[in-house]
Formats: sequence, structure tokens, C-alpha cells
Amino acid sequence: MTDTVELRIDGEDGREHSVTVARGTTILDAAHGAGVEIMATCGARGRCRSCRVKLVDGAVPPPSVQDTVQLGPEAVRERFRLACQTKLIEDTRVRPAPPKSESGYQILGGKAVTAAMALDSGVEKQPIVVQPPKSEHHQTSDLEEVLNALGTSVTTREVVPDLVRDLAAKLRERKGQLTATLFRGRLVDIEVGDTSGQVYGMAFDIGTTSVVGSLLDLRTGEELAAVGTINPQAPFGADLMSRIAFAQFKPKNLQLLRGKALNALNDLIKEACAKADVSAAHIYKIVVVGNTCMHHILLGIDVSYLGLAPYAPVIRDAQTIPAADLPLKAAPRAHVCTLPILAGFVGADALACVLSTRIYDSEEIRVMVDIGTNGEMVIGSRERLVACSAPAGPAFEGAQIRHGMRGALGAIERIAIDDDVHCSVIGGEAAVGICGSGLIEACARMSEAGVINASGALTRNVEALPPAVGRRLVKGEHGPEFVLVWGAESGKGEDITLTQGDIRQLQLAKSAIFSGVAMLQKEMGVAPDEIAELLLCGGFGNYVDVASAVHIRLLPEMPVERITYFGNAALMGAQMALLSEAEWRRADDLLNRIEHVALAARPDFQDLFIAGMSFGAPGRAGAAAEKVAVAI
Ligand code: FES
Repeated sequence: MTDTVELRIDGEDGREHSVTVARGTTILDAAHGAGVEIMATCGARGRCRSCRVKLVDGAVPPPSVQDTVQLGPEAVRERFRLACQTKLIEDTRVRPAPPKSESGYQILGGKAVTAAMALDSGVEKQPIVVQPPKSEHHQTSDLEEVLNALGTSVTTREVVPDLVRDLAAKLRERKGQLTATLFRGRLVDIEVGDTSGQVYGMAFDIGTTSVVGSLLDLRTGEELAAVGTINPQAPFGADLMSRIAFAQFKPKNLQLLRGKALNALNDLIKEACAKADVSAAHIYKIVVVGNTCMHHILLGIDVSYLGLAPYAPVIRDAQTIPAADLPLKAAPRAHVCTLPILAGFVGADALACVLSTRIYDSEEIRVMVDIGTNGEMVIGSRERLVACSAPAGPAFEGAQIRHGMRGALGAIERIAIDDDVHCSVIGGEAAVGICGSGLIEACARMSEAGVINASGALTRNVEALPPAVGRRLVKGEHGPEFVLVWGAESGKGEDITLTQGDIRQLQLAKSAIFSGVAMLQKEMGVAPDEIAELLLCGGFGNYVDVASAVHIRLLPEMPVERITYFGNAALMGAQMALLSEAEWRRADDLLNRIEHVALAARPDFQDLFIAGMSFGAPGRAGAAAEKVAVAI
């Protein structure tokens, strides 16, 4: 696999232009490199729509929040993207299609943008000039003068005492020039001078294995910084159940996990602010999504009974909490908003995915699969929505795999096997490990080449393989292994291998997802060919090769053109709820619309799970799958 991709552009002159660029180059930069003018009115900041293109051919990269804000979900679904925000991941053909009425920095209003998502974060900053009370006979106060200056923007005149403690001095410092900040109509901050241009928010997705966040400008929707880290709770349990077990009936352990999560969020806020050169004191709203366990731990809610049947959450509704109560480092009276929880193991992250993928508004049946340590899946349309979750474990995130790693520099991401094995590594460096998408592709290629059989066992029939491939089957410390990169070529000084145990971990993970989707299809009475689109979500860090995912039976057997990689849909849902109160409230409506299927309580699930363990075409599953179930 090369690290370059070809971009073809349908020119206005009717000619096709083409250019080869490094993978990851934005469409805008590539087009300019090809000598094709694409307007970039806002300077490629995702703040206008002048660079809009339609992807005519090739995979459609996941939308960014700017795509959704500027173009609207409909256009995003119809393969429109902002050229300045969209990175090329494979050969692609585009047609520049700026909206006719495009006039620069306009974000809201106007006919052509009615489909765009309205920016209404609930945070409003207003510069005001306020005169202090002048007469000794006054019937007014400093605060009243401020509230009066704000007029109808204020819907409640109540304030917390700490907001007004130093108001008298502020009011008189610069001739009454102040900036007032309101959240949902309530006064939450008063600053001296005009700071109305500095209004930010953070969106977080707390996963079992990793935590990602983004800093957004609440006036424009622009993403100013993207940050992420490994969930520091991981040493206390790799998956949800072990994390719950650690905290179960042990309040001290719960506090320890909570402290780890809060530290991670505060570190990420600091990092994002440093990257974007903004002050955390101007972050007024933080939206956090995560699975039910992460949500509860962050809020310090006892998870003891979440780990016991019937796995009921303690609370389900969306919450708005003062950030200082957690505490998170933001503006003194910033708020943290959570999204609702559907069930014990279908959390606010799943709601966020439904929000961003908009399957609730689809006329046809769509499936959303959020692949993470805890896989969450939703099937349906505007008629009906059904959700479930399945414990996939951390294999897709590179954990519990001998040489597993996240999708970072040095991770094997693509593999080809002919008369030998060829690995493509992120960044073109010497390999130091393998990421989740690489693991999927490795198993797909190994299955095709006969290195592993349908039950997932490494073959003993070495003679049937090309000699160079056969030599890679070695005996390791804990049994048979397959060498992907020899130690002399690796960046680790040792062989990068896949062990039989690694393959078993992948089988358990992929079958959890496969059988979960199969159960949802069964519930809805839908065959794979009746699914209009499968949206693959999750923070793999790299793009999963969908053909490989279908081949290994991670995803249902359906045409690959109908499988779309949607990126981190949970984070995007959090971003949408951050930027739009209407989206945040929509999550509440969705809570009442989505039905939940508890897989563990379904006697037919076991059969689906066993069938999902096998590799390759369903025809090859059969008896082999049973043997696997015994071997695990
Ligand atoms: S140039 Fe303005 S959004 Fe791309």
C-alpha cells in the first residue's frame, strides 16, 4: 500500500484535473496543488461553505463537526464535504460545488444554509456599558444595573453570591465597560472590558480505553484543538465489568477511578487550551458523553449495582452540573452537560452516535455500529430504533494484544500476503506494533492465505504455504505465533508477531459486534441486503478496511459500498450537543424512542455468538465455529 493517493477534480471547464498527493492531504490543498481554484473565503478554517465539494467517487471520509455545522446533515449524507476540512484517505474524485449564495463568513440564516445546524450553544456573551447607581436615594443596585442593561436576554434574575462579590469594583474599574456571560438566560460571568470574542466549549467522549476531546469556538463552531489520551483508569480493569468490579462496594476505589477521569479531563482541557492559545477561564460549557459506567464514575455515582443483574443505571436523564462541582478547570461558573443514558450498557455515547449519524431521521433501515471496548449498536429508521451493546473488549484498541498499540506512528495498519508478508506502517516508520485496524486486516489476509483456518487456528500445514510465509509460523513462548515483521526490520529490535492468543482475542471481539448486529437484524426482521447503510463508528484512529471487516465476520455480509466509516460519532454527537441546545434536547426525545435489547437475557444470542467466531465466508463457519467455542 502506498502512502500517496490520487485526487481527480471535475473542472468547471469540463476537463478533469488530477494530482497525486500524500495521504492525509486536505482536498483543498491537493486541488490548489493541481492548479484548480477552490474558493477558501474563511482561510480554510471551516467557517464558511465556499470550499464545498461533492465526493463523486471513492470512500467518503467521516464528516467533521464543521461539515455538519456549515453544510447540514442532509448535505453531509449526500456526500458533500468542506474541502478544507476533509483529508484524502484513498483515491477520490470530487466536483467543486460551492452554494450559489455563498458570501463569505455567513454562518447562519439565508436560504442556502437552512439545512445547516443552527449554532445555539446556550452561551451568550454581551458587551455592556453600565453606570453605577448615582443617587444616594437610589432604589437600585450594581447588579440590577447590569441585569437591566442585558434586557430580555436574561430570563432569571437569580445569581449565585460568588458572582457579585467583586462586582462593585469591576463596575467602576473601566467606566462600567463589562462583558456579561449568560448560560440558558442566567447570568454566569461578568468580566471587565470586552471579551465577547472569547467564548469556548469542550466536548468529551470518555471511552473505556481512551478519552478524546475537542475545543470548539461556540460562536463559529470551529474546532480549535483536538486532544486525546489513554483512559488512566485502564490499569484498574481493561473492560467495563472489571472496572465496575474494582469499584463495586468500595467507595475508595470509586473515588480513585473518578479522580483519574477528572485528572484526564483537566489535563486535556489544559492541553487543548495551550494548543489553541486560549484561556480555560473562557470555557463556559462542557459536554461529556461516555458509556454508563464512565458516566457514573465521573459523577461519583455508585456503580455497585450497575454490575449486577438487571444492570440498571442509577440515573438516565441528561444532567447539567456546575463544572466547579466535579471539579473541571473552566470558567468559574461553567456548566457540564451530559447526554441521557439508554440502559446499563448502552450509554450516553450511544445516544450521541444516534444524534450525529441521524439514523433516527432515516427513511431506510440503517445500522450504526460504534466499535469500542464496549460495542454499541443501533438499527432502525424514523419508524423504529432498536439498540444493544456487546462487550468487545479492548482488542480493537490494541490492548491485550502482545504487540498491540493505538493507531499511532509505527503501528502496522495494512498487510498484504503473496509469496511473503508486506506491512504498511503509519508514518512509514519501522514497525513497533499493530493497531486495531491492522489486526483486522492481518487476520483477513491470513485467513485468505490459509495461515489461519476457519476456526481461527494457526495452520500446521506449513508446506501448503509459500516458503517465506511458512517460515513466519514460529513457536513462541506461549505457543504458535505468526511473524508479521522480523526483528531485524522492526523498530523494536524483536519480531512483531500475532500469537494464537491475539487471534482468539480478536475472534471474541469481532463476534461480539457481529452477533450483536445479527440480533438487532433478527429483532427488526431485516436481512443484510435490506440494510441501506451501515455506519461504522469508533475511535480506531485509522480506517478499518471494510472488505476485511466483512471477510473476518466483524460486520454483516453486505456490499462494501453500503458500509461507511463515520469516524468518532460519539464525540461528534457531543460536539453537536455543545454547539446546539436543540441537539442536546433532541437526545432526550431519542431516549424515549429507542428500544433496548439485552443480549445476555436472550437465549438465542449464544448461537449467534458462536457462529460469529469463525472467519471467512459463512459457508466455512459450520462445525469449525463449534470447535472454536470449545477451544476458547
Ligand atoms: S474555506 Fe471556509 S470552510 Fe473551507
